[in-house]
Amino acid sequence: MDKIKVIGEQILSGKIHISGSKNSVVSLIPAAILSDNVVIEKVPNISDVKNLELILDYLNVSYKFDNDSLFINTSDMINKDITSFYSTKLRASYYFMGALLGKYKKVRISLPGGCEIGRRAFDFHLKGFEKMGATIDTSEKDIFEIKADRLVGADIHLPFPSVGATVNLLLAAVLAEGETTINNAASEPEIGNLIEFLISMGAKIEGKDTNYLRIEGVSNLSGGSIKVIPDRIEAGTYILAGIMNGDNLEICDIRPDHLTSFFDKLSEMGASFEIKENSVITNKSIHLKPVNIVTEVYPGFATDLQQPITTLLLMCNGVSTVKETIYENRFQNTKYLNEMGADIKVDGDTIYVNGPTKLNGKVVRTSDLRAGAALILAALSAHGETTITDIRHLLRGYSDLISKLSNVGAKIWLENE
Ligand code: EPU
Repeated sequence: MDKIKVIGEQILSGKIHISGSKNSVVSLIPAAILSDNVVIEKVPNISDVKNLELILDYLNVSYKFDNDSLFINTSDMINKDITSFYSTKLRASYYFMGALLGKYKKVRISLPGGCEIGRRAFDFHLKGFEKMGATIDTSEKDIFEIKADRLVGADIHLPFPSVGATVNLLLAAVLAEGETTINNAASEPEIGNLIEFLISMGAKIEGKDTNYLRIEGVSNLSGGSIKVIPDRIEAGTYILAGIMNGDNLEICDIRPDHLTSFFDKLSEMGASFEIKENSVITNKSIHLKPVNIVTEVYPGFATDLQQPITTLLLMCNGVSTVKETIYENRFQNTKYLNEMGADIKVDGDTIYVNGPTKLNGKVVRTSDLRAGAALILAALSAHGETTITDIRHLLRGYSDLISKLSNVGAKIWLENE
């Protein structure tokens, strides 16, 4: 399997352009099948998109790329069982539950894949479908059969503002009969991006960017276009690289308003960065103060930036803490950071990071996507050479990672075994 090698302690200078958001595009592509002809602009070059293309091919959906614009046409589409070969390649395969249920009132699909960072239940999705009149049959091994004679609007309260449940229920509700309300819905920017896309196809949805969504079902959706919003997690990752190693490193094409909690923590630490209209200029920062971080749903501190920022906490003078409230198993990066010289103690849902520590290059393994980002950041700052194995997780979510970093002065390359 391919490895990434990094020689650390290089100064990063120049511009990094941020790609379209992974967590947006992975819901926008399944949403596209609700319409006939759509275009999605600013599609990132990540393997999650390639794996969604495999599902489109399998369902006989035609598509073509023109640079980073994806044109999708569903006129010859066939509803087929999405087997584990397709579903386990990524988490978002399960958005075909809502989309196929909405379009055909029937879906047969195997369990999704994705990072192993906790329980990752999807009971809220299934309960929501049931409230809308669907039945769920799990009697056949590895298959969820979800179908409805009539899919009807319902009042749904989510016990937790789950991103995945909000997406799946939106996808089912836009073509259901009557009104659906989703109370305690997720309000992440990626959900707003999906809502705009659905509205461009003719869906009737109120409440974008709030926790209460009202969807009036329509009988047909047609056309539609959307530009994927900038990936706020990719942006945060490179901003951290700049604060650790930058000399006027500018992270461009971002939405600063999507990163408010993240910037608040960086300011509290005393990091050196300047927010512009669509970019952030970063510089290597010293004498950083320790902070306490608690992950929360948007607009709180994003769980997806928790592992990357832990690498920066290694440079703070004193003990920082990170409490992870969204996932049960999202500290797998700490084992490898400790092998590189960090002093991190894990205690249940909280880690204690004792800094500052000096990192040394080692052979480390990527256990999940954002752990991989944390290790790339560590490798960029470490003394000597780091080898990062099992990089398939990283390629799922970081578009053109190696060229983006090499272009600003990092010594980073891919090695094939
Ligand atoms: N949960 C349930 N039941 C449900 C749904 C969720 O108990 O029916 C629990 C989960 O077990 C988890 C928590 O609620 O502990 C949060 O789950 P949520 O549904 O909000 O997350 P998700 O949809 O599985 C998306 C992103 C994640 C990101 C979270 C939170 C995608 C494909 N994934 O996951 O992204 O961490 O929202 O913002 O959009 C990543 O990019 O690295 C990543 C993991």
